[in-house]
Order: sequence, then structure tokens, then C-alpha cells
Amino acid sequence: MIDTEALRTQPELTGENIVLAQLDESCFEPAWRALREPETIRLTGTHTVFTEDQIRTWLASRPGLDDRADYAILRKEDRGYLGEVVLSDFDGDNRSAAFRIALTGPDVFGKGYGTEATKLILDFAFDVVGVHRVSLEVFDFNPRAQRVYEKCGFVREGLQREALWWDGEWHDVVTMAILKNDPRP
Ligand SMILES: CC(C)(COP(=O)(O)OP(=O)(O)OC[C@H]1O[C@@H](n2cnc3c(N)ncnc32)[C@H](O)[C@@H]1OP(=O)(O)O)[C@@H](O)C(=O)NCCC(=O)NCCS
Repeated sequence: MIDTEALRTQPELTGENIVLAQLDESCFEPAWRALREPETIRLTGTHTVFTEDQIRTWLASRPGLDDRADYAILRKEDRGYLGEVVLSDFDGDNRSAAFRIALTGPDVFGKGYGTEATKLILDFAFDVVGVHRVSLEVFDFNPRAQRVYEKCGFVREGLQREALWWDGEWHDVVTMAILKNDPRP
């Protein structure tokens, strides 16, 4: 069974260099800046242009939900906002969930934060919430993300051919997943 109470209360998850804390309205300024960062927009394939109001409303409505976990990734030393990592699309019958992550921009890429955040939220999903399977989608032009996911134990399962239209070209979307009993290096 999925522990919906764990999702509702979303405990803070502490790693070596980061803390995962409930995403909420206090994250508005850096989250809003990140939504206008071209490299993050490209790597997440975000076609939608959000308004400030939409983002404020979205952030304010995150705490207390029991069907997803929206975490802010914070630098441990000063609780500076580094991005978000999310478990969503919970399927209680099949104990599965979807995963996504986005750091704020190139100044914080490649410093190990993404790997640490992914490991922390996977441990939470499997060991606390009781999930059996976590899946994700990643674009063919994002080898850094694919490397991070493989490092954390995700296994490549398939390829959705030409599922993304970006910058005048079609791109393939790789699907990956990790099961509860897969190695989590
Ligand atoms: C994807 C993302 C979460 C990864 O987090 P990160 O903190 O930047 O990554 P880390 O520093 O933890 O690890 C990067 C790894 O990728 C490797 N890497 C970097 N560039 C690479 C490339 N072009 N090809 C292959 N591997 C690459 C690094 O060497 C490192 O692996 P290593 O530890 O074995 O050396 C982050 O870059 C991000 O948010 N990017 C923008 C949004 C995004 O891409 N989201 C994912 C959408 S599916």
C-alpha cells in the first residue's frame, strides 16, 4: 500500500550537501527565475509559458497534497534554492509513480546536486511511501540527465520515437524506470 500520510506530511530529507524540503510559496522568486532559464526550458521541453499568478498559485497549493511529493532542492549550508524534484502520477493499485527533476540553471549543473536529490527521493519513494516502481522520461539530447539516472539505478526501458518537437526538429524520448528491488548504487 502507498503511505499517503507520508506524502501529505512530506518529511524533510537530508543528504550530505542538500536538503529536500516541501516546495511552497516561499520558493517563488528562484522558481520563477528558473522558469525563464533557456537551458532548463530546453532540457525539460517546456512549451507552456506560465504567468506569475499561475506559478504562485501552483506553489501555494503544493503543501498537504497526499497524491504527490513536490520537493524543493536546497543547498544544505544556506538553504539556497537549487531546483525541484517531484514524484507524481501515483497509481495506488500498481504502486507506481513518475519522477522529474530540474535544477535552476547551468550555474548549479554538474556539482552532484541532481544525483544526490534523485537518490534521496528514490529512498523516500521506496522505503517510506512504499512504491514499487518509479518511471521517467528524458530527451535524447540530454546525456547528463541520462547519466545521472543510470548512476542512481534507473534502467532504460524504451524509446518513444519523435515524441518531442523542439526547435524545428523531432526528438526521441527515452523511458527509464527503477523497481524497489533494483540496485540503488
Ligand atoms: C539533469 C540534472 C538533474 C542533473 O543534475 P546535476 O547536478 O547537473 O548532475 P550531477 O552533477 O549530479 O551528475 C552529472 C553526471 O553526468 C555526467 N555528464 C555531464 N555531462 C555529460 C554529457 N554530456 N554526457 C554524459 N555524461 C555527462 C557527469 O560527468 C556526471 O557523472 P559522473 O558523476 O559519473 O562524472 C540537472 O543537470 C538539471 O536539472 N538539468 C536541467 C533540467 C533537466 O535536464 N532535467 C531533467 C529532465 S529529464
